[in-house]
Amino acid sequence: MPFSTATIAVPHPARYLGLLTARRDPEACVEHAVDGRATITSRQGTCVLIPARALDVIAMAADRAALADLQDTLTRHLRRCDGSEDLEITWTEPVAGEDMQITDPVVGDYLLRHCTGADSLLGELIVATREATGTAAGMQIAADEGAFLTMLTRMAGARHAVEVGVFTGYSSICIARGLAAGGRLLACDTSDEWTSIARRYWQRAGVADRIDLRIGPAIETLRALPAEPRIDIAFIDADKPSYPAYYEEIVSRLRRGGLVILDNVFLGGRVLDPAYQEEHHQVMRRLNDLITADERMDSVMLPLRDGITIARKR
Ligand SMILES: C[S@@+](CC[C@H](N)C(=O)[O-])C[C@H]1O[C@@H](n2cnc3c(N)ncnc32)[C@H](O)[C@@H]1O
Repeated sequence: MPFSTATIAVPHPARYLGLLTARRDPEACVEHAVDGRATITSRQGTCVLIPARALDVIAMAADRAALADLQDTLTRHLRRCDGSEDLEITWTEPVAGEDMQITDPVVGDYLLRHCTGADSLLGELIVATREATGTAAGMQIAADEGAFLTMLTRMAGARHAVEVGVFTGYSSICIARGLAAGGRLLACDTSDEWTSIARRYWQRAGVADRIDLRIGPAIETLRALPAEPRIDIAFIDADKPSYPAYYEEIVSRLRRGGLVILDNVFLGGRVLDPAYQEEHHQVMRRLNDLITADERMDSVMLPLRDGITIARKR
């Protein structure tokens, strides 16, 4: 399902938005958000209007031909609102799901250069993971996410941490390094092979005595935990279809003020594109909506790497 955007330099963006949404199209549904954005859904597709310094417009339709029609309609209406055929409107090339660039590589590189980066041990782990696991190495979190996990663990004063999805141990080291004195990390994974690398690096990082590795389906490990809310921080980074079950088991055991962090909530852009309807796309889309509406939690979704959500128990 292709998307295209246009940034239209008009003196009063909100006025154009008002004129466009006031049009009497009985087949269109208009939704206004409290911050002034509006979404118009019609048979042609969906259009989001964002009044900022200019009027930002997002257009989305079932296919490229339908999108071109929607762009034409919007261009006509906007020029009518402006009273001028000369109003400049330039639409970006359509992009869909996985072609969407979540983080521009240049920005991504800049972010990596401006965080507490990987130290030499984590650097060695990055290289060793690439050599031992090949393309699976892409599952490893990046250094900026790792720095963020250490920071969040410290800020939470965490003594009881949980990780779902260890792989070769990068994120476990980052969490373990942030634990308060006497703190412990319960680390869940199904792979003996990958976690054997993790064990070696935990030893070298001097955090092995803080980590309890449980090999087996994480849902069983989580369900076997005591029911009382003791978890200070949890990181979910494993099989996507099980995320909702992990989230529920963790949130019910999270102390007030405790954090749950979920990785890959954008699924490489596919979560934003309704054309992607495989199980993990549907599950992640529903979970993102559920967390936003979860009255037990405050949450924020960040465009860091493949998207992370941080939710804090009220
Ligand atoms: C994306 S990787 C984790 C990356 C890791 N956080 C890091 O920083 O390198 C996902 C991990 O989840 C594990 N996994 C997959 N299904 C699982 C399950 N049902 N229970 C526990 N772990 C699982 C995989 O073995 C894999 O190591």
